[in-house]
Amino acid sequence: MKVLITGAGGQLGQDLLRVLAPRHECIGWTRQEFDVTDRRLVQERTAWLRPDAIVHAAAYTQVDLAEAHPDDAFMVNAFGACHMAQAAAAIDAKLVYVSTDYVFDGRKGEPYTEHDPTNPLSAYGESKLLGEKFVRAFCSKHFIVRTSWLYGKHGSNFVTKILAQAERRKELTVVDDEVGSPTYTYDLAECIGWLLPTERYGVYHAANRGWCSRAQFAEAIVRLGGWDDVRVVPIRSDQLALPAARPAYSALDDAALRHAGLARMREWQPALKAFVQDDLGYSRRKERDS
Ligand SMILES: NC(=O)c1ccc[n+]([C@@H]2O[C@H](COP(=O)([O-])OP(=O)(O)OC[C@H]3O[C@@H](n4cnc5c(N)ncnc54)[C@H](OP(=O)(O)O)[C@@H]3O)[C@@H](O)[C@H]2O)c1
Repeated sequence: MKVLITGAGGQLGQDLLRVLAPRHECIGWTRQEFDVTDRRLVQERTAWLRPDAIVHAAAYTQVDLAEAHPDDAFMVNAFGACHMAQAAAAIDAKLVYVSTDYVFDGRKGEPYTEHDPTNPLSAYGESKLLGEKFVRAFCSKHFIVRTSWLYGKHGSNFVTKILAQAERRKELTVVDDEVGSPTYTYDLAECIGWLLPTERYGVYHAANRGWCSRAQFAEAIVRLGGWDDVRVVPIRSDQLALPAARPAYSALDDAALRHAGLARMREWQPALKAFVQDDLGYSRRKERDS
């Protein structure tokens, strides 16, 4: 298949290229090459390339900044998705739209299935949800793939930030009243690769399995990084007073993947170990230091 990847410079975009390129003819366009807010450019270039499938990974992902600049977030996340959906439909291509756990309010208290009602708490979540609605409205051959707490080699994320802090400090304060499913972009790219050849369109929850609090996540990162002497001190999220509200509990249930008979993603702990120790090379660091 010929596959177009938007947001190819981002952390998921880069892993999509790494995972899908051996199996498909992949074309990755970065923001500089392909701004999804430019409706005419999106239509013209997509019609010229004629991909069989589009994985739309481009997004405005700065959750806190989006509170102060909601128009920017809506322009990219909602209208960008609208442009991609219309462009995909015009050439009869499949479209994967990557969405988020932040479409939920986090009050359910148990993992969210694809059928649960949405109720975003932030401008970012609202903008991604409107993107989902546009995709449903304009492109029938769609996969809406909701994921959560992404980390990967090609970006600044929670894991790389905790590792950088552990290099410098003996004590890290991390919130423990936010629970979710950390997800390795490499694993998500693989899951998208399983969906692409199928015609089982619809909404999917795709995250590494299981869940933890941010503090438990940080604790696991620090230990895998080899710091036995760094302490993670749990705090409440209201002590940070971040601009955007986050769902308190946003673990995702992968019911749709199971019902489609597709492979399930692995648990979050082995995925995190593979990232920190193998991909980032912290197992070598541990050996060196001992
Ligand atoms: N990160 C998470 O924890 C998380 C959780 C759930 C869902 N998601 C979703 O997963 C997807 C991938 O996220 P990610 O973590 O890989 O994000 P990322 O690293 O921020 O990558 C997003 C990419 O989109 C590009 N982009 C921004 N505006 C654009 C525009 N107008 N036109 C074209 N490209 C544009 C960015 O380019 P610049 O860098 O040049 O701005 C960046 O390369 C997104 O849809 C996101 O909403 C992310």
